[in-house]
Amino acid sequence: MTSWASIAFVLGLGLLAVDASAPWWQTASFYQIYPRSFKDSDGNGIGDLNGVTEKLEYLKEIGVTATWLSPFLRSPMADFGYDISDFKEVDELFGTMEDFENLVARAKQLNVKIILDFVPNHSSDECDWFIRSAAGEEKYKDYYIWHPGFVENGVRRPPSNWVSVFRGSAWEWNEQRQEYYLHQFHKKQPDFNFRNPVVREEMNNVLRFWLEKGVDGFRVDAIYHAFEVEADENGNYPDEPRNEWTNDPDEYGYTHKIYTVDQPETPHLVYEWREILDQFQREHGGDERILMVETWSPIDIVMHYYGNETAEGAQIPFNFQLITNLNADSDAYHYEYLINNWLSKMPSGKSANWVIGNHDKNRVGSRFGAERIDLFNILLLTLPGCSITYQGEELGMLDGYVSWEDTVDPQACNGHEADYMWNSRDPARTPMHWTNGKLAGFTTGSETWLPVAADYAERNVQTERGIPLSHLNVYKRLQQLRQEPAIQQGAAEIKAVNGYVLAVERYLSGNYVYISLLNIFEHIENVNLNDVFSGLPSTFQYALVTDKSIRQLGDKVSSSSITLMPYESVVLRSTTTI
Ligand code: GLC
Repeated sequence: MTSWASIAFVLGLGLLAVDASAPWWQTASFYQIYPRSFKDSDGNGIGDLNGVTEKLEYLKEIGVTATWLSPFLRSPMADFGYDISDFKEVDELFGTMEDFENLVARAKQLNVKIILDFVPNHSSDECDWFIRSAAGEEKYKDYYIWHPGFVENGVRRPPSNWVSVFRGSAWEWNEQRQEYYLHQFHKKQPDFNFRNPVVREEMNNVLRFWLEKGVDGFRVDAIYHAFEVEADENGNYPDEPRNEWTNDPDEYGYTHKIYTVDQPETPHLVYEWREILDQFQREHGGDERILMVETWSPIDIVMHYYGNETAEGAQIPFNFQLITNLNADSDAYHYEYLINNWLSKMPSGKSANWVIGNHDKNRVGSRFGAERIDLFNILLLTLPGCSITYQGEELGMLDGYVSWEDTVDPQACNGHEADYMWNSRDPARTPMHWTNGKLAGFTTGSETWLPVAADYAERNVQTERGIPLSHLNVYKRLQQLRQEPAIQQGAAEIKAVNGYVLAVERYLSGNYVYISLLNIFEHIENVNLNDVFSGLPSTFQYALVTDKSIRQLGDKVSSSSITLMPYESVVLRSTTTI
């Protein structure tokens, strides 16, 4: 429709319309469930699988088509389930294998896809494999990364200066084996040795096991840590160069990560897993099984996870560009750049994904301001590709206050009280708000594993259902709009109108044009859309308004003069088709 789009067409960039028969995940609305905090069915104050099953209908209500569940496998819970001691068992805290099977069966009835969190980089130190490895059993000897370290003047020191994400040396001494083992996260999370083909096969079997159980795919945890640089001919590992950001050798930022993340072999591991998923589909039929990979790498490296000339990779390498690069001061040009940069760097034929929060990041409303909650939901749900919402963001939940005494996140507990708030992930993990009743309807018990956030009485499912322009109802309306052909399959053009307003145009021949307009700042803005997009129909109507709007749903407006109230975001629909 406009020059940008036609250039994109010629270049084969990511703005092209999606084929109507595109695979399910391309336009899916994903929803991340952190099971500990979603719904407690047995009153012990910790969410569980039956709680998730009980609330699957809620996912339908809010238009979600797929959910990825943070880990619920057997674990000593040093990192709340990201330290797995048995990759093929459900932890009793969350329920039983039967509960999981029921969950999958119910999800299938409701047509909600289930994505598991696959944690390949490490196991728990209480995993049988690690116990055997520490004991030096032949088969398991090289399942993990071991090194004796160096003795200087009678004092033993670790093999290298590598630092753990959760502070301190990434090497931990093991008395039994008389060697250090590598752990890029908690010392109770020893890193696997992916150069060992037996380990690879072991993890491949974990994937097959859960595919057999009927899951629709995997979110792959911390993939960029999977490989470290190979040991040299003497079996040693090089020090990483110093960063100048900090003088604290225990802080993760102390070294520049050139040997411990983003090694060239890593995407190939994902290609191998994709092949396992595709093979499973070839043998068992059904819809495409997917991989969503977590990598906080520079964008050019992230793109490798989509695949290469000969291999398919992950369908969804998480797009963390908005999380990493935006803050409350970012202007509309910055949004525009980040979105278009992803679309233009994406290999041809691949599909975009949009994510702004998860269980590791502060809540959207706490990072960007509560007045921008609808703005981000509108953006994520009207951009081309799939959207990924973290539980509670549809309600506009904010960070809960968690005192130092109540803090349980190892990333915070390994540090100091003085700055724990900067490191703690607990505030984004407080229990989901279902009602305005006791403990937000999260549990029937008398306590919760993390405190319920103070504002639950206003921000909860029950209350927001009854408020026409609540965040929840805006979110539901967005999901209806996502069914529109132009938003499902149409081309997209993303432009800053000026520094304050971002516009997203979605269009498809024979259909109405949709435009999301986001006023990022606190001024009233008047917008002439014809300055931004060419060939627009002259009249639009409001297809979505928020509580910042003075216009009503259905009100007509000229494309040449649209007034946006402070922080107002809306979706407009042309009154004629194109
Ligand atoms: C990922 C998870 C995070 C976890 C870490 C180690 O980044 O999202 O919660 O602590 O990996 O598994």
